[in-house]
Amino acid sequence: MTDTAHAQDCYPVGGDWTDARVDAAAYERLYAAAARDPDTFWLDQAKRLDWTSPPTVAGDWSFDADDFRITWFADGTLNVAANCLDRHLAERGDTVAIIWEPDDPADAPRTFTYRELHAEVCRFANVLTAQGVAKGDRVTIYLPMIPEAAFALLACARLGAIHSVVFGGFSPDAIAGRIEDCGSTLVITADEGRRGGKRIPLKANVDAAAAKAPGLAKVIVVKSTGGDVTMTPRDVWYHDEAAKVSAACPAEPMAAEDPLFILYTSGSTGKPKGVLHTSAGYLLWASYTHELAFDYRPGNVFWCAADIGWVTGHTYVLYGPLANGATTLMYEGLPNWPDASRLWQIVDRHRVHTLFTAPTALRALMKEGDAFVTATDRSSLKLLGSVGEPINPEAWRWYYEVAGDARCPIIDTWWQTETGGAMIAPIPGATALKPGSATRPFPGVFPRLVDDKGTTLDGAATGNLVITQSWPGQMRTVWGDHDRFVQTYFTTYPGTYFTGDGCRRDADGYYWITGRVDDVINVSGHRMGTAEVESALVAHAAVAEAAVVGMPHDIKGQGIYAYVTLNSGVATTDDLRAELVTWVRQEIGPIATPDKLQFAPALPKTRSGKIMRRILRKIAEGDTASLGDTSTLADPAVVEDLVANRVG
Ligand code: WT7
Repeated sequence: MTDTAHAQDCYPVGGDWTDARVDAAAYERLYAAAARDPDTFWLDQAKRLDWTSPPTVAGDWSFDADDFRITWFADGTLNVAANCLDRHLAERGDTVAIIWEPDDPADAPRTFTYRELHAEVCRFANVLTAQGVAKGDRVTIYLPMIPEAAFALLACARLGAIHSVVFGGFSPDAIAGRIEDCGSTLVITADEGRRGGKRIPLKANVDAAAAKAPGLAKVIVVKSTGGDVTMTPRDVWYHDEAAKVSAACPAEPMAAEDPLFILYTSGSTGKPKGVLHTSAGYLLWASYTHELAFDYRPGNVFWCAADIGWVTGHTYVLYGPLANGATTLMYEGLPNWPDASRLWQIVDRHRVHTLFTAPTALRALMKEGDAFVTATDRSSLKLLGSVGEPINPEAWRWYYEVAGDARCPIIDTWWQTETGGAMIAPIPGATALKPGSATRPFPGVFPRLVDDKGTTLDGAATGNLVITQSWPGQMRTVWGDHDRFVQTYFTTYPGTYFTGDGCRRDADGYYWITGRVDDVINVSGHRMGTAEVESALVAHAAVAEAAVVGMPHDIKGQGIYAYVTLNSGVATTDDLRAELVTWVRQEIGPIATPDKLQFAPALPKTRSGKIMRRILRKIAEGDTASLGDTSTLADPAVVEDLVANRVG
């Protein structure tokens, strides 16, 4: 370490990593190799996949708007599901691929070997084919964390159908919007989901969505809880259809750049964007980063506690671990149910080697006290991962010292839905840790900090985080709107990919993500666009105008603070406030629930009519003493009312 100012914050690599595949010197060598000759580096990495026809070219890309293109391994062909299943059969057909842990600890876990998983996926694929699904079709998946979710995604991949998973916490409106946007005609769902002992009416939500998604023609329903559902002529039971088909299904050879999936994510403006990932580059990135970040070795039980409805679930519950022949754990429930020991009990029950979860879960567990952790053994744990938002040093230390008994490195992975997999993260055995820093970029990742004018900042600096070169796992487009893709990511700082994040780099070259610099809020590690919540609010008959900002929140990281101007003549009652909060929940889903809602007679605007969010953020944070320059406001008096009526 060269930066003595940070020396006291520097942890060794954590644990015994004398046999690490990548040590500090190897990291430097790999980083330099990927910079010097990316084609050779990536064609070599491509050998980790099984190709039906191997590629002869690596990346072909330009981030210049005039000449924009991104392709990787363009002349190669492969099948993603075959890479996750078939190629493992000879060597580890009887190895457990998936351990499934149910919501209720009294219920029995289930396991699927690679051979069993292969058969399940083939059967699922045959059901999809029988229902008319073919290569290139979009399939919407709205399932809980049950094994059938893994079967369904891999079945799509096997056929070359493009899956679009919608998180089970989203509302019927949100499902309908996503079905319509990608033009899928088939949805896979379950009767109900189970979480924390509660039931989630998934099938009923799809029925409600169908009313708003006229293109939806067919629904495959997995029987999970056995709860009552109404079957319509559109619906078939999965188990009925599965009984009619065989468990053999050839894998469709796909071009490297054929789409694998769409995943909707919020941006700073407009509707959620359909982030599109393609086959080979995405899978390579999933496999490469899963192995590097978690030093994956055969036999390790790998548990990423994310839901399959988010990119973390796609990459680190499913594709990365299975591409690497790992044993991946899928958990149906919540980290704190029946009590705050559950996560650690699962670790003990399945001898988990790597646990990968989010700071928001850690903060919630930390608050319950150490006894829930120390009552468990956890001796199988060797690595602890973090993802989704900056991890505050207090939560980092608790994770390291209490959960990991000071022998497991904290692998804080910075990345995004758009990046496909981890980009900046420590490598166990190679990277000294600093609590709160995602540390250094993986070989092949070239970050840069720029100021607001786009000027490059060298050395220790704070600025906007951009990535200057393409990497295989990069998203390729926004489904149906390529211009939006180029506009959103490549025009703010021309010639580079703009992440939307602010970041500090210290004198050791360590990266410290400071959070979003755009109008995106990170609620419990999930991205929410302020524009989305605003448009839900203004859709209510009583609302004239709304502005939404993030505010600090102990558990969620950021909470949602909404300022609402009502139509004239509507009274500002507590009942209406509660109604509006419920309204947003119903329009988008529970994750969009405003934490605070303030009635504002008017919003602070410039003379040209632009809402001054900077001021709204300060008020939401409670930092009313330093509102800065308000002289450009059309009516400075508006601010006084906002400050006086702040919801504390
Ligand atoms: C945004 C991406 C990464 C997959 C899950 C979220 C924030 C993510 C970290 C981290 C600091 C982080 C960023 C990023 N973020 N991981 N380790 N440290 N910030 O994916 O919903 O696409 O959100 O999450 O702000 O831009 P996402």
